[in-house]
Amino acid sequence: MSAESRRRAYLEALQIDVYALRGAEPVDAIDAEPRTVDVPAVDWDSLRDAVAECRRCTLHETRTQTVFGVGNPAADWMIVGEAPGQEEDRRGEPFVGRAGKLLDEMLLSLELDRGSVFIANILKCRPPNNRDPQADEATSCRSYLERQIDFVAPKVIIAVGRIAAQHLLNTDEPIGRMRGKRHMLEDRQLPVVVTYHPAYLLRSPTQKRKVWQDLLMARQMMDEANQ
Ligand code: URA
Repeated sequence: MSAESRRRAYLEALQIDVYALRGAEPVDAIDAEPRTVDVPAVDWDSLRDAVAECRRCTLHETRTQTVFGVGNPAADWMIVGEAPGQEEDRRGEPFVGRAGKLLDEMLLSLELDRGSVFIANILKCRPPNNRDPQADEATSCRSYLERQIDFVAPKVIIAVGRIAAQHLLNTDEPIGRMRGKRHMLEDRQLPVVVTYHPAYLLRSPTQKRKVWQDLLMARQMMDEANQ
């Protein structure tokens, strides 16, 4: 019996109800699935706790706190960014500050807000001096993101920025070539749309038109998923 099944058996023996959110896989499927097997979280709260206690990479030494994500854990839309910055590390919430405001505006253009999507990052801890995530850090954090995707079970993911898109889709293609294409998350048949990071848009506002095109494409993919 795996650790996961044992944990479930203990909870059942103790007559403790285990609630799983929409889209959560049955325990046997989790056991059979290598991408999730190393996060023994049977529900959303224990996943959040596991992230808060994580010491898998050295980023735990410099973080103020982990940044799990924010929004509706049963949302149809999921937004995936890169990693917490200084302010996110301080507040424990992704995308605060000017880039966050612009992300909110991007969501508004789809008639969405933070309560109707779930926003997460590739990394749950801030890299020092906001440097790019390192490969080992992204690998260590990946199963948390995968479990979040399992639980939320979004219909469409929007990856914002090159780093998020490359890690999520496991590619080193430049973002200019990833934009405007329909992507699928490996093994999941889950549509992913790639667009520019709001922090980049703050520096290059003329690119907003392209982001609008990306968001229209995301909307189209959502409409198709709802058919
Ligand atoms: N940039 C990101 O990609 N994520 C955040 O949470 C903040 C800034």
